[in-house]
Amino acid sequence: MRALIEKLEREHTLSAVEFTALIEGRNETAAELLFEKAVAQRQKYYGKDVYLRGLIEFTNYCKNDCYYCGIRRSNRHAQRYRLTKEDILDCCRMGYALGYRTFVLQGGEDPWYTPERIEDLVRSIKKEYSDCAVTLSVGEHSHAVYQSWFNAGADRYLLRHETADPNHYSSLHPEAMSLENRLRCLWDLKEIGYQVGCGFMVGSPGQNAEHLAKDLLFIRTLEPHMVGIGPFIPQKDTPFGKETAGTLELTLYLLAIIRLMLPEVLLPATTALGTIHPMGREKGILAGANVCMPNLSPTSVRKKYALYDNKICTGDEAAECVQCLCRRIERIGYKTAAGRGDHIRIERK
Ligand code: 5AD
Ligand code: FES
Repeated sequence: MRALIEKLEREHTLSAVEFTALIEGRNETAAELLFEKAVAQRQKYYGKDVYLRGLIEFTNYCKNDCYYCGIRRSNRHAQRYRLTKEDILDCCRMGYALGYRTFVLQGGEDPWYTPERIEDLVRSIKKEYSDCAVTLSVGEHSHAVYQSWFNAGADRYLLRHETADPNHYSSLHPEAMSLENRLRCLWDLKEIGYQVGCGFMVGSPGQNAEHLAKDLLFIRTLEPHMVGIGPFIPQKDTPFGKETAGTLELTLYLLAIIRLMLPEVLLPATTALGTIHPMGREKGILAGANVCMPNLSPTSVRKKYALYDNKICTGDEAAECVQCLCRRIERIGYKTAAGRGDHIRIERK
């Protein structure tokens, strides 16, 4: 294992067979070594800074029907909501006052939120908060639509690829969705000039080490600016409601591998990681993550954006979340960074 980890550190990649061996052969010693090397790389580029992004979950309507997701179209138990433009601008106002300089607009693929309406949102936010970055996370769209949002000022886009294996992809999604289109979107976004984030769930039903090796090799090829990974967590009203959750241990291991593959990547310690373990996000940072995305959505809708069960931070006011997170980050010897927190290779606009 040591030889594989040293090779990964040196060459920033491995073959599919080697990645599979690294994952299947993992043990505590290997994990410790990986974390140590991942933290050293992160230290080199970002020091002890952890970037905060204000997450605004602005609609839980979704036309898709992903088998794992609590806001899937077929979930009749989901209480649907949609924030208005004014609600969203209020979130930004509060977030700005709390020190956020990145707003992440995340939502289901909600047909009411047409490309024009989203474009208008982006323009309005960028007009009022020109020193902030806007990240969109609203699913699959055409090149032309992505271009129009970029022209309106959107800086970054998050679209997890979910799994890089076509068969595994089909087992997680209905036939109307394809890995091919998902990847087309990611390449379009990158070509347009967004800072792009892909990613996947750890421990999704049917996932094995070969699938994960493919995910890692896809990440190597795409070279995204951001990678979002978190454990799969069952949501009781979905077809995967009785499946087992992904583990903290494997998620941390993969975070460290991704840090070694892309030393400069922006890597969040996700809410899902904080949900499966009370210290999940802190452990994520200690394994190489350098971003946290606390919730800025109004408390009245927090519980409704339930992609999975028992999600944390659904009862707290935005200000409480920031304070709590800052304290957590400081307690482990890190500090929250002011500013937009762009990828190192991106020129500030
Ligand atoms: N458990 C963990 N993560 C999930 N996501 C969706 N449903 C779940 C779940 N049950 C993730 C997907 C999606 C992101 C917004 O949330 O990876 O891309
Ligand atoms: Fe939200 Fe702790 S980060 S309450």
